[in-house]
Amino acid sequence: MLELPHMSKHEPFFFSSVDELLDKAEELRVSLPYKETTNELFEKMTVGLRNVPNRFCVQPMEGFDADPDGAPSSLTFRRYTRYAEGGYGLIWFEAAGVVPEGRSNPYQLFLGARNLDSFEKLVMETRKAAYRTYGDGQELFCVLQLTHSGRYSRPDGRLRPVGVISNPFLEGPDDSVQILNDDDLERLMEDYIEAARLAEKAGFDAVDIKACHGYLVNEMLGAFARKKGRFGATFENRSRFLVELLQRLHDVVPGLAAAVRLSAYDGIPYPYGFGVAKDGSLDPNILEPKRLVHNLIDAGCILFNVTAGNPAFNPHIGRPFDRPANNTPLPDEHPLVGVYRLITLCGELQKEFPYVPFVGTGYSWLRHFFPYIAAGVLARGKTSFIGLGRSSFAYPDAPRELQQNKKLNPEKVCICCSRCTELMRSGRVTGCVIRDGSIYAKEYKKIGGWNK
Ligand SMILES: Cc1cc2nc3c(=O)[nH]c(=O)nc-3n(C[C@H](O)[C@H](O)[C@H](O)COP(=O)(O)O)c2cc1C
Repeated sequence: MLELPHMSKHEPFFFSSVDELLDKAEELRVSLPYKETTNELFEKMTVGLRNVPNRFCVQPMEGFDADPDGAPSSLTFRRYTRYAEGGYGLIWFEAAGVVPEGRSNPYQLFLGARNLDSFEKLVMETRKAAYRTYGDGQELFCVLQLTHSGRYSRPDGRLRPVGVISNPFLEGPDDSVQILNDDDLERLMEDYIEAARLAEKAGFDAVDIKACHGYLVNEMLGAFARKKGRFGATFENRSRFLVELLQRLHDVVPGLAAAVRLSAYDGIPYPYGFGVAKDGSLDPNILEPKRLVHNLIDAGCILFNVTAGNPAFNPHIGRPFDRPANNTPLPDEHPLVGVYRLITLCGELQKEFPYVPFVGTGYSWLRHFFPYIAAGVLARGKTSFIGLGRSSFAYPDAPRELQQNKKLNPEKVCICCSRCTELMRSGRVTGCVIRDGSIYAKEYKKIGGWNK
């Protein structure tokens, strides 16, 4: 299904017109859908029983600006109210830990009984910001992403990795990952359910059980090497946690919708990656992701968000960039190939399950031309929502400006420089260093970023 050039030369974005960009895609044999008009992006869409005002989705983007107890801070409020004022209809709130030891950073959001009121306020202020700007028609759909960071847990700033398998691609011989047993995982399911109960009280419309980017639930899906117990080896066992959790959520918190952000392709060879061919190559094979989506729909999932890759291992797969974070080597892949892979993975799943909405990823690298590709993808039924990650940090009012001006401002777009990732990896508050410099360029200076 997904024929990709195995090697292509990395190049930064240099296009002065959308035609140039499309020509490059043709040259790379990764032709992208295109539409001259962008009306599709402003059409309503049904999610469960709700109408979402348009097709713009803020992807979950951690800002690492929570208070030490995990409650949103004034910076968190600033980020979300800007998205709401900027016109996004679907707001996918960033990863929030479900257990303290599974937080990726001491400043990651964490929803508990003690800080429930702050989350309630965050959701309410975000909704109010949309009403204030657009009136009654702009009823936001708010999803909270729930996570355990697994092998990337840093609850007190130091790496304290836990997992369900040892993975030679992700760890060195001296790394010691604590392997969770089946009882640990059963207990963890309860923690997710408790977090979901609180999320409903806080006013979220849905929770997402994060199953992507190498974090714990994603690792379970590729745990071919976990030979014993209920959570490894066979497809049924590897997907058990996610499927059973969704079934239980449906029973215990019936008023809350369930969503899943899924890495449909890990880009790690078998038997260590999900959605990868079993011949030892890195070719995608989405037979299992399709089976999983089918079972998750049966278990009550009403919304999917498709992504790929592991930011710590193969960051170019999930977030195509011009400049890699921390001066790591450039990949042997043109960013347009990465964009195409993400769009196609989502397209394959959306086409197989046309009655359930999917959010697609991979649009930020297209800069101010993304609306034309996005409209083409929507028109061909290859996604229901256009997810924007780094672009929402850089240009939170892109939807409003596109609607008003019929085009985006090239001076405001994300330049895919990975500086937000560098901030995040340094444990600093995270946002756009280039376009939101009054806050984040200062942070970047503190980590000596400009001298690297
Ligand atoms: C600083 C930063 C924080 C992120 N936080 C999350 C997160 O909380 N949850 C998640 O699923 N993905 C997270 N991502 C990945 C994005 O949601 C998105 O998949 C990625 O940036 C690619 O989309 P884009 O090309 O629009 O940026 C993060 C990415 C970055 C750069």
